[in-house]
Amino acid sequence: MVNYKDLGLVNTREMFAKAIDGGYAIPAFNFNNMEQLQAIIKACAETKSPVILQVSSGARKYANQTLLRYMAEGAVEYAKELGWEHPQICLHLDHGDTFELCKSCVDFGFSSVMIDGSSLPYEENIALTKQVVEYAHQFDVTVEAELGVLAGVEDDVVAEESHYTKPEEVIDFATRTGCDSLAISIGTSHGAYKFKPEQCTRDPKTGKLVPPPLAFDVLEEVEKKLPGFPIVLHGSSSVPQEYVDIINTHGGNLPDAVGIPEDQLRKAAKSAVCKINIDSDSRLAFTAAVRKVLAEKPGEFDPRKYCGPARDEMVKLYKHKIIEVLGSDGKAL
Ligand code: 13P
Repeated sequence: MVNYKDLGLVNTREMFAKAIDGGYAIPAFNFNNMEQLQAIIKACAETKSPVILQVSSGARKYANQTLLRYMAEGAVEYAKELGWEHPQICLHLDHGDTFELCKSCVDFGFSSVMIDGSSLPYEENIALTKQVVEYAHQFDVTVEAELGVLAGVEDDVVAEESHYTKPEEVIDFATRTGCDSLAISIGTSHGAYKFKPEQCTRDPKTGKLVPPPLAFDVLEEVEKKLPGFPIVLHGSSSVPQEYVDIINTHGGNLPDAVGIPEDQLRKAAKSAVCKINIDSDSRLAFTAAVRKVLAEKPGEFDPRKYCGPARDEMVKLYKHKIIEVLGSDGKAL
């Protein structure tokens, strides 16, 4: 049994309380490899932003859960080396689907876990979430739960259709499970293809898709039912069109990739939404930079020469999100 506190990690409780008071959101960035982790920590150290490092099931399969956990431990020391005196770094399991998996993460030094029972019938979601909460809270590990279904593809999590969270369920769910935060469905979606073209309109000038707005009425209803309770948005990449264009003009093919406009995320961050999940945008930044280098220098074969620029691009992206979208800069001095 390893306690996250001995690793210099923190859970989400204080982060979220401050974020709600301050009207900003904590970035939850997924990581799968060293370059992503370095970029996240560098961006957060330079902006003094608290951060949630997320490990998904795909990341566990790709990079190995043990290695990722040790990387997160190393990240705390790396942050200090970069001059961030009091790093606030949470290590979070993204989309845990069983009690056993959540327990193994708690036992292994994660400071926060998500139990995603959103695809289960309501009462089963409650029972599973409650079981995880009862275990995790013994070790002061915080638990995120989910109500409502997001559309899209994220590693092993696939859903064809979304179902908005029903505000009339949230009080009962939060009270009976004891969860610390709640992911809700208000129209965000996982991946780089968040909406089908027929759900969007097209900008006549650029020909780009314009996605439908988020259901802020559902968010407001949830906030009214659970004042001050931490709300989480998954699927919140904005799919920057400059990256999509770089990819498409350098041998890639991402037709009609579309995300959540950043002004809507900014608005959400000022409300009870205090954790915003971003994964796809980092993948796009990485891929755009790698494609550009390889297209311009076909003789290059040193991974450092294309992963290095990819890392720099991700630092830029993360800092932009922290400063311009989430407002979490300067909140972990
Ligand atoms: P994106 O695919 O929009 O980056 O969402 C990531 C996410 O929600 C991870 O849980």
